[in-house]
Amino acid sequence: MIGKNIILGIETSCDDTAAAVLKDGHKVLSNIVATQEELHESFGGIVPEVASRKHIELINIVIKHALKRANVDFKDLTAVGVTNGPGLIGSLLIGLAAAKAICYSLNIPLIGVNHVLSHMYANFIENPDIKRPIVSLVASGGHTSIYLLKENDEFEILGSTLDDAAGEVLDKIARFLNIGYPGGPAIERISINRNADAYKLPRPMLKKGLNFSFSGLKTAVIYMVRKDKTLLSRKNIPDLAASFQKAVMDVLVEKTLRAALSYEVPTIALAGGVSSNSYLRSEMKKRAESYGVDAIYPPKEYCTDNAAMVACLAYYKLKKGQISNIDIDAYSQISLKT
Ligand code: KG4
Ligand code: ZN
Repeated sequence: MIGKNIILGIETSCDDTAAAVLKDGHKVLSNIVATQEELHESFGGIVPEVASRKHIELINIVIKHALKRANVDFKDLTAVGVTNGPGLIGSLLIGLAAAKAICYSLNIPLIGVNHVLSHMYANFIENPDIKRPIVSLVASGGHTSIYLLKENDEFEILGSTLDDAAGEVLDKIARFLNIGYPGGPAIERISINRNADAYKLPRPMLKKGLNFSFSGLKTAVIYMVRKDKTLLSRKNIPDLAASFQKAVMDVLVEKTLRAALSYEVPTIALAGGVSSNSYLRSEMKKRAESYGVDAIYPPKEYCTDNAAMVACLAYYKLKKGQISNIDIDAYSQISLKT
């Protein structure tokens, strides 16, 4: 690749319509995210059909806006990177169709990108020199897994959730406590300066392997509230939310640290929407440092769904010649396809 390298990233795997333009894989010229949060808030969660219809309305506007903000034209593009899975099929197809149309008409490479891996690559946007191997926790609304990123850039999954994802359980409990959507930020806001040790909650599978299980913790909160309705009072909810947030994050920290220590990896990289949580970030850093392990995380705007991370992973794939066929499909399930 000689000369300019301008990649347009497109991300529509869930309820955000996002486009970004990156120069040489690491210089973010623009990063536009049109969130549908308010639209889905009234339902207390994402309604897939509503999300895909909104993506149709927004996709061209968001792409044009990203190009304009970056001060580039379609003809300046070297390639387009697009999330083609895992995610909501109806949503993925909108971004994929737009990417295919651009690549076909301009005769430039199309690069399909795995959403979970792109979250991990968000760490490289501003830090291209991070040395592998890395242990990475990807915690979002749909996924909670620990990955080993090896020296040769190959991946291994070291552990995954057996039931709910961390973000999913935060969203469900926030809905149960009626404190807002998405749940992670709502719980974080209400927990500030509150007593996170007020309620004793379980840390599921804390000492057992590297897999996660969060549904028992969710049930523990629900049972606790059913037994004592006063917990739903304005006075008690913040301490309960803080205790719950701490329980979720403590498990994430403990297991990720254990993975890094047992695989003798010097760097932990957090990723995914949940990794924008301030308690998780500071606790991970503190605990890791006490074992001589470095903990890093992307700026918050690259933790939740965005297209800069998609363009960044697409850049690495393009360098390796990993170009997709124009007829690639979208896929819904977790997979280690890169
Ligand atoms: O990565 P993401 O934007 O979308 C998915 O790929 O799922 O992650 C969204 C998830 C939601 O469950 C949301 O509640 C959670 O990330 N989240 C947070 C925070 N910001 C977003 N969880 C905890 N603390 C936050 N500050
Ligand atoms: Zn995501």
